[in-house]
Amino acid sequence: MTNKKTAPLYEAVAEYAESGCSPWHTPGHKMGRGADARLQKLITPQGLRGEVSLADELDDPFAPDGAIAAAQQAAAGFFGARETVFSVSGTTGAIHMMLLAALSPGDVVLVSRGVHRSVMGGLVLVGAVPVYIDPEYDEEAELVLNVTVAEVEAAVRRYPQAKALLLVSPNYYGIAADLKGIVEILHRAGMLLLVDEAHGAHLSTLGRVKEKCRTAGVRIPEPAMKSGADMAAQSTHKLLGSLTQTSMLHIGTKAPEDMGDRVYRAYGITQTTSPDYLLLASLDIARAQLEEQGEEVFERVWEQTAGLREKVNKLPGLSVYSLPEGWRRDFSQDALKLSVDVSDLGITGPEAWDYLREHCLMQPELSDARRVLFIISYADDEESLGKLYRALKALSDEYKGKRRKERRTLPRLPKSPEGVPPLNPREAYFSRSAAVDIDRAVGRIAAEAPMFYPPGIPVFYPGEIITAEAVEYLQAGLAAGLVPHAEDTELKTLRVLRG
Ligand SMILES: Cc1ncc(COP(=O)(O)O)c(C=O)c1O
Repeated sequence: MTNKKTAPLYEAVAEYAESGCSPWHTPGHKMGRGADARLQKLITPQGLRGEVSLADELDDPFAPDGAIAAAQQAAAGFFGARETVFSVSGTTGAIHMMLLAALSPGDVVLVSRGVHRSVMGGLVLVGAVPVYIDPEYDEEAELVLNVTVAEVEAAVRRYPQAKALLLVSPNYYGIAADLKGIVEILHRAGMLLLVDEAHGAHLSTLGRVKEKCRTAGVRIPEPAMKSGADMAAQSTHKLLGSLTQTSMLHIGTKAPEDMGDRVYRAYGITQTTSPDYLLLASLDIARAQLEEQGEEVFERVWEQTAGLREKVNKLPGLSVYSLPEGWRRDFSQDALKLSVDVSDLGITGPEAWDYLREHCLMQPELSDARRVLFIISYADDEESLGKLYRALKALSDEYKGKRRKERRTLPRLPKSPEGVPPLNPREAYFSRSAAVDIDRAVGRIAAEAPMFYPPGIPVFYPGEIITAEAVEYLQAGLAAGLVPHAEDTELKTLRVLRG
């Protein structure tokens, strides 16, 4: 039986929606009265009554002291933070707030190369000077892992002036760094640990799973807050039940005292002045749902996923990524990210994606040169996982024994050039620039951050020298059918600083 937790913001919004109060305020559809039938179909008339923006009873997210404050405190309590702030501009907005709160113009910040593109906007806003650390790489699987404690230790020794380290953990593939080990080193050196935990909002509810895994000798990722991180930006919408676009920024118990005030200053410039209360309330509901059911539901889905993993590994030509033994001291893995290697079938990730979409009505989260990644959440069960298994079996049946091509490999994400880049992203962003032929871009200073999306990891940032390896990587990714995010989506040109 679930124990109903309060959801103060949800309750305030539901009460307002039913109050009969005459809306002489935004939005213009006036609590659904004027909404087009098409919008009513999508959100429902009842839902539209709660689709309001700022109103006295509903509290003000810029200076919360009512229902929003209570909801944020409940979230902080649950996730182990000193303070939590809700974002309606996704984890992108939360990361921007985190960087603006932690850093000042000119501050050196250690940045893991595997971080998401949202970091770039934060760096441009702040004017900080990033020094990049290369995550480890699984050569055999051609997969970016995460940064090790030893790498962080070396970077801290090399750049003692750095103010913070920013990393992503777990990454898109569920590979998490040893945050406890890393935070120890950083705090000893007086630096902050800032975590992009977009893919880790569910980790706080894996207590039972952790117990079982410990008995089996397997480590699962620890949440950033419980590891002592100073701040963590979490996509509540990615693996939990809040609406898309909603995230939380948590401030750790060991963060500097004034961090909350600094975050609120950043809130004022990164968040809309018209937050949708359905979005805000959905964060409150997602936290309450997790508190009520999380442990039980995640234990069930974790076990079901383990069963699926075993079955998929038996299908000809398919294998699910599992962190190799040699990396298990440095990293842990979230098994709910099911990343299926299809290269032994002689096809690429995008080709497998097309087959699954066209023939099985399956929509995976992402594909890379040799894998397709499926996100499994608390909403999955035997039935949905059974469907996924049948789709993967159909894929295997379709291609096994028909090896069509040489395996198409993607070169390793290029290593960062040594030292501090010639310009920081902000300086490069505001400099005069021009698009040049990609082959003529080698050796020039980048004015854009091209990447494949997803996972959205920039190959280089504005202000860095473009290397031949980076260009080769971009061209190989394009040839493998990955989707580039760059100014020129055909990657014939790159934007560089003018000579
Ligand atoms: C690792 C990581 N960080 C940050 C983000 C940005 O999150 P949002 O889409 O909520 O802005 C994403 C989005 O995919 C991501 O994968």
